Amino acid sequence: SFLDMEVEQINKGNYEHYMQKEIHEQPESLRTTMRGRLIRGGSCKAKTVLLGGLKDHLKTIRRSRRIVFIGCGTSYNAALAARPILEELSGIPVTMEIASDLLDRQGPIYREDTAVFVSQSGETADTLNALEYALENGALCVGITNTVGSAIARNTHCGVHINAGAEIGVASTKAYTSQIVVMAMLALAIGDDAISSQGRRETIIDGLCELPGKVREVLKLDQEMKDLAKLLIAEQSLLVFGRGYNYATALEGALKVKEVALMHSEGILAGEMKHGPLALVDENLPIVVIATRDACFSKQQSVIQQLHARKGRLIVMCSKGDSASVCVGGSCRVIEVPQVEDCLQPVINVVPLQLLAYHLTVLRGYNVDQPRNLAKSVTTQ
Ligand code: G6P
Repeated sequence: SFLDMEVEQINKGNYEHYMQKEIHEQPESLRTTMRGRLIRGGSCKAKTVLLGGLKDHLKTIRRSRRIVFIGCGTSYNAALAARPILEELSGIPVTMEIASDLLDRQGPIYREDTAVFVSQSGETADTLNALEYALENGALCVGITNTVGSAIARNTHCGVHINAGAEIGVASTKAYTSQIVVMAMLALAIGDDAISSQGRRETIIDGLCELPGKVREVLKLDQEMKDLAKLLIAEQSLLVFGRGYNYATALEGALKVKEVALMHSEGILAGEMKHGPLALVDENLPIVVIATRDACFSKQQSVIQQLHARKGRLIVMCSKGDSASVCVGGSCRVIEVPQVEDCLQPVINVVPLQLLAYHLTVLRGYNVDQPRNLAKSVTTQ
């Protein structure tokens, strides 16, 4: 009706689509996610995190033999992005499970496990069934959702709300970045008792405080991503190479492109390049390589060189000021992004890829907010 259309227009504000609005509101949604949870300064200069929904369970989590992340789609990717920092700060093995695959295998889950269920909607059938399974097997079950009162929020032993605000676009954007931030805070909370990593934790907390401003900065690439989308509009396929903290970024960037732009896209772990993907490389197939500064940087530089040697058509994402050092000996298009603490870099790096997917979709004339065949919340198996 006319009224519904008006309400929709008000909800979208000055944006044409919900996905566009949700991408651009990430500085605010991230701020809301962190509000009241980062404790800085004060008389003792303590820097710590406070996750109210977890505080009575942290001791049990610290004693667990393993932490298992369980989710689907973008929520799984967010957990994958947080995995390295959780391993580092907790010292506990962290394993990953796609909810349906855990159920297909009836994989082992033990009483000594902490199972973390990640779901924007809190209602995804596969994730909910995996929760039931983990409860039967006696694991401590933690929920990370964006929906207060959802099935996953209600049925887990404890949890954290991501507070990103309602997400309407079927392709998840702001929930993804808020999920990563919550899981980074989870890692900080679990590791809170270790003196040896206190400096590292404080640097990450400083990084979290600066993150919304850095996201605002990276959003300025909007026009640049639109120009790139124009170049890629008629392509059949797009590869995205990442590793370490940004393996998840590669998967999530590719997922956005296939979900909304209806273009084949694949996220590839750069360390696996020689074990198959290299066969696809020629002068036509566009490849995004994520090569921002972190411990994997020199390995990514060598990946770029090897792709150059095969005349690969490269789009390199690098830290500000690194254009010249990532593109030696070949031609490539460069996307420069602000640098943040390594474990938070996935929050920055995914933004240009969200923008690229958005513009590709609009230019190709597809429905951004409701891609064909997909649903926001998949409540059937
Ligand atoms: C559907 C949506 C995706 C989402 C996935 C998991 O496939 O289209 O955007 O990532 O479900 O949803 P959840 O609500 O559990 O995060």
